[in-house]
Amino acid sequence: MERIAIVGAGNVGKVLGFALKAKGYPLAAAYCRTDNTRLTAARILACPVFDDMAQTAREGDIVFITTPDRVIGEVCSRIAAGGGFRAGQLVLHTSGAHSSEILAAAREQGAYVLSFHPLQTFPGLEVGLQSLPGTFFTVEGDTAALPVAKAMVDALEGKMLNIPTEMKPLYHAAACVACNYLASLLDVALKMYELMEIPAAEAMEALAPLIQGTLRNIASLGSEQALTGPIARGDVPTISCHLENMALKSPELLPLYSALGLYTVELALRKGTLGEKEAGELKQLLGGQAR
Ligand SMILES: NC(=O)c1ccc[n+]([C@@H]2O[C@H](COP(=O)([O-])OP(=O)(O)OC[C@H]3O[C@@H](n4cnc5c(N)ncnc54)[C@H](OP(=O)(O)O)[C@@H]3O)[C@@H](O)[C@H]2O)c1
Repeated sequence: MERIAIVGAGNVGKVLGFALKAKGYPLAAAYCRTDNTRLTAARILACPVFDDMAQTAREGDIVFITTPDRVIGEVCSRIAAGGGFRAGQLVLHTSGAHSSEILAAAREQGAYVLSFHPLQTFPGLEVGLQSLPGTFFTVEGDTAALPVAKAMVDALEGKMLNIPTEMKPLYHAAACVACNYLASLLDVALKMYELMEIPAAEAMEALAPLIQGTLRNIASLGSEQALTGPIARGDVPTISCHLENMALKSPELLPLYSALGLYTVELALRKGTLGEKEAGELKQLLGGQAR
């Protein structure tokens, strides 16, 4: 099997390195920037860990650049300048936002390049390893290298999603909405419960079954059919009451509530449970508050 090198053995680098090694891929080398993280990576990955990126990349047939997004291009250029790439090698990064084009310096040396984004969140090693099975890996770049990527995805018990290079930014924006904005949305609900002096932990415990039920319904029925609540029913006075109370107690949250309410009106119209008359009244109410 191809030897793996990890340039940037942070959260993602350690999870992928550890998991691929467990599936039989030889882990040839890893790189971290600082002494402390090098010691941690050496203990977890049990492979040679260098302070030289080009030396690390040279050891691998497959080179993962798992540094922060903002330095991937620069790191790739520095490895190329240090003679770390060769023809036939596969060089990947795991950023959701950037395409494989950012690895141009490796391609110039004859390497194949791919972006290989796990559509998953990795706050640490243990939870990361638990989350891997079933994770989608979104891959784009040199088509000749896709079978090598597919073999790794299969080994990780993941699923592969191919997208065109030019769609990468939109793809990442959608992932941010589904993951990061969901965290922000729930924070808004917790803030409102805080006003009733319900502590966040208790509020979260109470909301969790509702959130999980909603997610299950969306997954099985789709977002339109899973939609319930006052907007879907056309209960205009209920929304009016929300807005009046929020104006008094949490005015700073009104613009977001109203913007999401307006989007929900369109969703309810698509579902077909909201009449045109009530939709118009709701739009006026929510649009008025959003201004
Ligand atoms: N974490 C996630 O949930 C997640 C999910 C999907 C995709 N990704 C993507 O995966 C990539 C890595 O993210 P991460 O969360 O694993 O990052 P991370 O935990 O911060 O790890 C970054 C690694 O890169 C090294 N590094 C930092 N700055 C560097 C520089 N200027 N030059 C060379 N190396 C440098 C770090 O070394 P030191 O620790 O020694 O500084 C560390 O080994 C990113 O492209 C990210 O978008 C992350």
